[in-house]
Amino acid sequence: MASSVLRVAIVLLSVAVFFGVAAGGKPLVVSHDGRSLLLDGRRRIIISGSIHYPRSTPEMWPGLFQKAKEGGLDAIETYIFWNAHEPERRQYNFEGRLDFIKFVKAVQQAGLYAIIRIGPYVCAEWNYGGLPVWLHNIPGLQMRTNNAAFEYEMATFTRKIVYMIKEAGLLASQGGPIILLQIENEYGNVISPYGNAGKAYLNWAAKLALSMNVSVPWIMCQESDAPPPMINTCNGFYCDQFEPNSSTSPKMWTENWTGWFKNYGGTHPHRPVEDIAYAVARFFQTGGTLQNYYMYHGGTNFDRSAGGPFITTSYDYDAPLDEYGYARQPKWGHLKDLHSSLKMMEKALTYGTRQNITLGDQLVASIYKTEDGTSGCFLSNTNDSVDATVTFNGIKYFLPAWSVSILPDCKNAVFNSAKVNVPTSLISVKEDASGHALRNWQWHKELVFYNLRAPDVFPAQKLLEQISTTVDHSDYLWYSTGVHVSEEDPFWNNGQVVLRVNTSGHALHIFVNHVHVGFGYGRGTFVVEQPVELKPGKNYITLLSVTVGLQNYGAFFDLAPAGISSGPVEIVGQNNATKDLTSKLWMYKTGLKGLEDLSNSPETFRWRTKGLPRNSSLTWYKAEFEAPEGEDAVVVDLGSMGKGYAWVNGKNIGRYWPLYTAPKNECSTPCDYKGAYGPSKCTTGCDEPTQRRYHVPRSWLQEGSNTLVLFEEVGGEPSGVSFKTVHNDRLCSSASSKGSGDDKQLVHLQCPSGRTISSIKFASFGDPQGSCGAFKIGSCHAPDSQSILEKACLGRESCSVSVSEEDFKSSCRLPTMSLAVEALC
Ligand code: GAL
Repeated sequence: MASSVLRVAIVLLSVAVFFGVAAGGKPLVVSHDGRSLLLDGRRRIIISGSIHYPRSTPEMWPGLFQKAKEGGLDAIETYIFWNAHEPERRQYNFEGRLDFIKFVKAVQQAGLYAIIRIGPYVCAEWNYGGLPVWLHNIPGLQMRTNNAAFEYEMATFTRKIVYMIKEAGLLASQGGPIILLQIENEYGNVISPYGNAGKAYLNWAAKLALSMNVSVPWIMCQESDAPPPMINTCNGFYCDQFEPNSSTSPKMWTENWTGWFKNYGGTHPHRPVEDIAYAVARFFQTGGTLQNYYMYHGGTNFDRSAGGPFITTSYDYDAPLDEYGYARQPKWGHLKDLHSSLKMMEKALTYGTRQNITLGDQLVASIYKTEDGTSGCFLSNTNDSVDATVTFNGIKYFLPAWSVSILPDCKNAVFNSAKVNVPTSLISVKEDASGHALRNWQWHKELVFYNLRAPDVFPAQKLLEQISTTVDHSDYLWYSTGVHVSEEDPFWNNGQVVLRVNTSGHALHIFVNHVHVGFGYGRGTFVVEQPVELKPGKNYITLLSVTVGLQNYGAFFDLAPAGISSGPVEIVGQNNATKDLTSKLWMYKTGLKGLEDLSNSPETFRWRTKGLPRNSSLTWYKAEFEAPEGEDAVVVDLGSMGKGYAWVNGKNIGRYWPLYTAPKNECSTPCDYKGAYGPSKCTTGCDEPTQRRYHVPRSWLQEGSNTLVLFEEVGGEPSGVSFKTVHNDRLCSSASSKGSGDDKQLVHLQCPSGRTISSIKFASFGDPQGSCGAFKIGSCHAPDSQSILEKACLGRESCSVSVSEEDFKSSCRLPTMSLAVEALC
């Protein structure tokens, strides 16, 4: 008893020593040399993961950090989102999800370090890359270049953030968790179009950073011109080939993309964990010492925060923690195994000298050795299709194609990037078990003339660009004009004409005489041609232009126009005769009158209860519901709706657009992890809505009645809407008796902690077909498979069964026998 208490105390003490500075609040000196970051003078390996504070809720943060810590991370990285914090010039918001100070403190409480990438341009699939749109309208201001007006605003905001960090004591030197800061973001990718002014801006940004006296190193990612002491770091799917631009900068990787983001109308990208682990292992094999997963938890683009155009509300990213915060297996677990094997050789990797030995074509052994004899080794096979067996120090090792083995003692391979010993998890989405349906549906039609008679309507004798006009106060801009037509007009054709609108997007609704007649959307500048019917005399042509996330990447991205900007808008009739409406007097209004009324005086908003409309454009819906019981994540399934916004208890859960489906033939499963990954490589979800379920954070729900409000633009079926719960309760594991190398194969199942295996949904020893969630019995099947698995696993948190012919009574025999299992936790 006494000794176990002692042991616990020693473990706690060593944990405290390891994270002493972060958790204990003792000042820590962060420096670096050409090899690594030095924490209190000691070289370190740092494994970090991106979690962006506005993409989850403060209630979710501690759980996410705990899972990051359990997953073997040392640090959490986040950007700072300027336009969220300063939506209007000098009006700041650091509340709720935007309370980054609270976020960083929670990182520290979890025993983790923090890396803060201030930017304040961040890209990040975030609206306008994080830059406030009000910058756009400051006369003479040019963004991300040597321009005094921009530099003044950027310096003001950056200084404010650094001041807040210091005031809260969050720098490592103050006993806080922050060990690194970043200025700008990937400027090197776009610098050349900015010419000399770009170079001057880069140097200015470095000076600004250094002037703030932060006592931790500054980084500039993807910036090979970073002026020392700014450290340039690498972003990408692979960074083993990267070398920093100075011999005093360590080799650091700020963005290892764990998957990719989604666009409405696109498929779901998946990056296989075998490939991520391969890339990470290659990075450390080639001298890397700090690596950050972008994203470790992607989360949700709530409200209008998604960049674009067309980036989805879900920012799941196929990250190790899924949108809801559940461990995505085997990704999370396999990377955890990788981290612990890398940590075993931290000293050798940071203090040892490296020797590479070629063991064959694309087969390399890297040996790290310190003077005191501490060593660590990597064996890599970079061939993307051919497995190999190598001999190293007289021992044979099997190296699957595109894999790296880690040998912390240079003898025993404790990890191979292609051998995943973690079961696969699947989520199940269930109807709310408490059976509460949405009730008390009400509706309201967003009428065109309410908008055109609103007090803030204003005229202009031309077509206006949308971003400069709305200044991002809304996605919506109304354009309306009156046109007199008669039977004498050359285009007349009995009033059967086409309205041709040249627009810079992103989506467009067309109304003639206040009736909705058409909808279109597209990328870049595109043309919508809508057959319409005009009457003799005056006709009102109204166009509602809708942005779907402002562009966030590229040189001069901030200048990409939106809306109908320069047109033309034309009526096209018989014999192609046209009438140009471009220079007419147009009336404008930013935003939806309905939304203003609903926000300003919800009590007097005219909700109707009778005759709930279906397939109705520009319609508001409201319904009440009870929060689903339990603690599992909640989503609202909007698969029956078209395009719009959803609010739960007044909180905007994001843009929805289930009508926009992924292409039929761009999916590439089954997916082979071998070979260089790109976002189009392993995709799913073809011919389905890119996103039909929208995350509703638990903390936004209350006991008793809750309210859902939808604004539907194109038409949908509200009765199809339902709340569902998301469970990470399904597990799969499979293994083969031969062909996968030299080890004895095991099928291993492991439930999330505190849960046990409640049923075996599928078990087959033989040649089972398909993949997790869709396994099928093949031509050879041992009938006792199910009972053997049930006996070994039911009621347990985890179990292992070996793939052995002696244990299963199978009448058939194949050169390779496999066991596949799906279980429920
Ligand atoms: C990088 C950028 C990140 C993010 C990523 C893609 O270029 O620095 O902010 O946009 O691409 O997810």
